[in-house]
Amino acid sequence: MDPVENPFRPGAGRRPPVLAGRERILSNFDVVVRRAENYGEGDRSWVINGLRGVGKTVLLNELMSQANARKWIVAKVEASTSAPLRRVLATELVKALRTATGRHADRSKWKRVLGVLRSFTFKLGIDGITLGIDVDPVHGVADSGTFGDDLAALLEVIGEASLEFGIGTLILVDELQEAGTDDLEAVNMAVHSLGQAPTPLPVFFVGAGLPSLPAQLADAASYAERLYVYQPIGLLSPDDVRTALVEPCEQRGVTWQEDALAAAFELARGYPYFVQSIGKHVWDLAAGPAFTMDDVQAGGALAREEIDAGLYRSRWERATTAQRRLLTGMAHLKGEDPVEIGELAAHLGKARTSDLSVARQELIKKGLVYAPERGLVAFTVPGMADFVIAQDA
Ligand SMILES: Nc1ncnc2c1ncn2[C@@H]1O[C@H](COP(=O)(O)OP(=O)(O)O)[C@@H](O)[C@H]1O
Ligand SMILES: [Mg+2]
Repeated sequence: MDPVENPFRPGAGRRPPVLAGRERILSNFDVVVRRAENYGEGDRSWVINGLRGVGKTVLLNELMSQANARKWIVAKVEASTSAPLRRVLATELVKALRTATGRHADRSKWKRVLGVLRSFTFKLGIDGITLGIDVDPVHGVADSGTFGDDLAALLEVIGEASLEFGIGTLILVDELQEAGTDDLEAVNMAVHSLGQAPTPLPVFFVGAGLPSLPAQLADAASYAERLYVYQPIGLLSPDDVRTALVEPCEQRGVTWQEDALAAAFELARGYPYFVQSIGKHVWDLAAGPAFTMDDVQAGGALAREEIDAGLYRSRWERATTAQRRLLTGMAHLKGEDPVEIGELAAHLGKARTSDLSVARQELIKKGLVYAPERGLVAFTVPGMADFVIAQDA
């Protein structure tokens, strides 16, 4: 088939042609949007958590584009270990407000927000940010120097402005598990304070990250469990995989033979990234207009190679010998499932669980494994266990 027409999009954060199986979350978001616009009321913030490649980033992007289409104030950032969240968030909020002042031109209503924003960024020592409008800083609001308090105060002022314009504010943080504990504490604090008002302002925060994120947030504040609505996302159901593979093709007059589709299911195992990769390679190889078993076998093999090289091998190669031993132990003991550190230590002939601490910590830092709960360890990417076992053979 003509690769120019190929609808599938494997790759981090790349929008799939059909966003399958996320209807519930999207309809929940619709409720948030309508409450904000019709009643000027904010909802509890969300945490979207799931393994790598299940579609957290594309979901955040979808929420972002919906909010943008409604002319909301929208800021999206990615937390990372290389830059403090407060800096990237402040910078992005400035940009979001510049866009918003263009969208809602009544300047008098923005004066206070921009003045507070100036004090906020000044206090954080962020310079080189221009607001585009000349305003004097508002002193005494959002400039205490305590990031959590200041963020809370800034969001309150932004929320008041949203209310005046009949819109909402959406703040999205991807890879939130990478943020430092003090930044997580500050986010918890700001989100907590937003929810305290008799009628919460229409400011909505969504954090996305690995399955360890809820536990990390709870470590940063004991009330975090009740602070967020957790929206775990995972593998797609068979029906959703069918939709994700079939619909984009149908729209282009292409079909899958039943046995070919069954084989593609088998390979994809519900993993959204695989779905896109298989779809892409089958499309490129097939003569069409009906995909056959042979197409899936040939395309599936290419997808497998691409996934091995892009997803597993790069991670495996980043691991040292000691770290690989730990990974291999995990794969042999429990496959895809979380492994108890004690059991792993025994399996690897270590006297104490602490003998594994260094390797485990390094693997967490490299993003290969995470701790679903205290004392447990699991792979961050679906299918990694099989790959690790194949390396060992
Ligand atoms: N609901 C979905 N239906 C079909 N494909 C999806 C879906 N969600 C994500 N994908 C695809 O999966 C891949 C990984 O998505 P991404 O958002 O980067 O995952 P994550 O941020 O969780 O690591 C992309 O190629 C994307 O197109
Ligand atoms: Mg992502």
